[in-house]
Amino acid sequence: MKVAFFSVHSYDREFFDEANVGFGHELQYFTTHLDTRTAVLAEGAEAVCTFVNDTLDPAVLEQLAQMGIRKVALRCAGFNQVDLRAAESLGIQVVRVPEYSPYAVAEHTIALILALNRKIHVAHSRVRDGNFRLAGLLGFDLHGKTIGVIGTGKIGLEFCRIMRGFSCRVLAYDLYPHPAAADIGIEYTSLDALLEQSDIVSLHCPLTPETHHLIDEEAIGRMKPGCMLVNTSRGALIDTPALIRALKQGTLGSVALDVYEEEGDLFFEDWSAHVIQDDVFARLLTFPNVLITAHQAFFTRDALQNIALTTLSNLAQLGRCETCPNEVKLPD
Ligand code: NAI
Repeated sequence: MKVAFFSVHSYDREFFDEANVGFGHELQYFTTHLDTRTAVLAEGAEAVCTFVNDTLDPAVLEQLAQMGIRKVALRCAGFNQVDLRAAESLGIQVVRVPEYSPYAVAEHTIALILALNRKIHVAHSRVRDGNFRLAGLLGFDLHGKTIGVIGTGKIGLEFCRIMRGFSCRVLAYDLYPHPAAADIGIEYTSLDALLEQSDIVSLHCPLTPETHHLIDEEAIGRMKPGCMLVNTSRGALIDTPALIRALKQGTLGSVALDVYEEEGDLFFEDWSAHVIQDDVFARLLTFPNVLITAHQAFFTRDALQNIALTTLSNLAQLGRCETCPNEVKLPD
């Protein structure tokens, strides 16, 4: 099948070319995002393959359908960027990679917590500068602390397992509690109770209309003073201006982010020689108690191999008109 890839980086090519040896699809790579201006590049392809910040709104889907493209392969787990209603009405099938490595994201979440708590990023620069003072690097023991986990699916559950290994109490909130939770020692509670009792709150639910700005001014107001907030899920789970107000007031202790609600124009590119135009993001970068990575939680060799294999296999199944278990459908 001829597939037009958007938002491609060197590592995507490396892993997709390697995996494609077993499939023989014709892969066409474009570095640009998919949007209404660039959709035309897919002319002649049967499918497009896109990533988290590509646009799949009704206008783009309409353009794809007009070019005869009725297959969209997301090389990611989240599908909040796709207008599924429009896709369905245009007869466009959407497939995704629901699970490629929950470990990659859960382990990156732990890396952020440990680094932020013990100020590893600051310590690293200091030591390289010949400054061996400890003032300003004070952290806290994770042992015995209460961790609040919102969303206990594949990633959240793995994160809970690791936190239990640190002897933390793990509180969780999910619309559908996981059957394995009791064995791991997770206690389900209400969202309010979780926010009020947790020393660290970590977000692992998908972005949906219901979870958009789940962490707003009111939710932040419920959190323990000095609480650490961690988001490796999707940026728009947090109302960023409300977060900035709380950081300025000193009510939140610290914040670790791998995602940002307006990341589409920033992340995955090198802007180091440019002035950042997003004032909200620029403000976030000024806080000493905020640690940000640019949507890299998924970025392990194991995950990229699984993403490539699953995506190409999804496309092969669609090509053979077989039922694909990874097809994303509108809820009934
Ligand atoms: P999953 O589908 O296995 O789990 C999501 C969980 O959230 C489910 O248990 C679901 O019941 C729960 N949930 C849904 N709506 C909720 C609500 N309103 N309140 C509380 N819980 C709710 O998904 P998985 O694989 O664990 O991924 C979670 C999210 O992580 C993805 O949606 C994606 O946004 C993000 N992600 C981030 C990556 C990164 O590189 N930073 C990479 C992969 C995923």
